Amino acid sequence: MLAQLDHVTKRYREVIAVDQVSMAIKEGEIFGLLGPNGAGKTTLIQSIVGLVAIESGTITLFGLDHRQDERRVKQHVGVVPQELSIFEDLTAQENVSFFGSLYGLKGKGLRTATMEALDFVGLKDRAGQYPKTFSGGMKRRLNIACGIVHRPRLVIMDEPTVGIDPQSRNHILHSVRQLNASGTTVLYTSHYMEEVEQLCHRIAIMDNGRIIASGSKDELKDLIAADQVIHVSIAGRNGDEAAAIGRIEGVKECEGDQNQLTIVSHKDAKNVGRIIQALYEQGREIQSLSIERPTLENVFLTLTGRSLRDH
Ligand SMILES: Nc1ncnc2c1ncn2[C@@H]1O[C@H](COP(=O)(O)OP(=O)(O)OP(=O)(O)O)[C@@H](O)[C@H]1O
Ligand SMILES: [Mg+2]
Repeated sequence: MLAQLDHVTKRYREVIAVDQVSMAIKEGEIFGLLGPNGAGKTTLIQSIVGLVAIESGTITLFGLDHRQDERRVKQHVGVVPQELSIFEDLTAQENVSFFGSLYGLKGKGLRTATMEALDFVGLKDRAGQYPKTFSGGMKRRLNIACGIVHRPRLVIMDEPTVGIDPQSRNHILHSVRQLNASGTTVLYTSHYMEEVEQLCHRIAIMDNGRIIASGSKDELKDLIAADQVIHVSIAGRNGDEAAAIGRIEGVKECEGDQNQLTIVSHKDAKNVGRIIQALYEQGREIQSLSIERPTLENVFLTLTGRSLRDH
């Protein structure tokens, strides 16, 4: 295992941000950490890289204890933090170079690694420019270049695609795959289910500081393989529909916003007719109804009773 976490706990006063987390990341994989706002993803990452002191548990990276062998471990880990950590008054090249020098690169080696990192994120042409002239997506990409300049074995990315344009987003997803193809192990956090599903080999779903499920996407979907997901659009809502549907036997979850309800029901319960009936009794008009295979979003909904998206 490249990284091994055992019963890691971190508390901020009364908030247990990371609660008895155990997980393992294999060499060469893209491991996804999926969870809504406040799940504890960033705290877990900060614990792994030693930016926050954990209260209990152990973290081993490359077979080394993350605190005892801190210097050796840090050499092989690259972090792309959730909050941009770039200097506006340094050029793109100077930014990347600065981070490279922190890892002991110098001279020609530093210059080559800097330009390679900029090239990798598609910013080579902008090397001499200042980040203040960059779009949000370009700043994100520069942030990534700073985190990978020293060619770490493990790259940890904390929600690198939040709030950016689709072009930069695709560029970032592509670079993560490329990094991985060249042998780098990646820990990728996000609250976008689709991204994690597309990108990651294995996934841990985190909520309220705990890992509530983990495995490959197929293994996760198998958790609710006996279920079906029913989407219903209705005209107007009074708010009582979800409760009424929730009372139907075999319905595991019913959740909705505006005019859309998402229902997870046991397949064998054959509940579609009963759902239509319940809505009819509530005086609601059905505009459309569809039945789908479960997604990771539905796994999260079934396990927590809440939606990932709306947080
Ligand atoms: N420095 C801090 N001081 C106090 N509480 C904190 C601190 N950092 C995080 N928390 C709390 O710990 C919990 C986990 O937060 P964390 O930022 O790790 O979650 P997250 O999954 O990264 O969320 P997001 O998707 O919003 O980035 C939250 O309840 C948060 O309010
Ligand atoms: Mg976070």
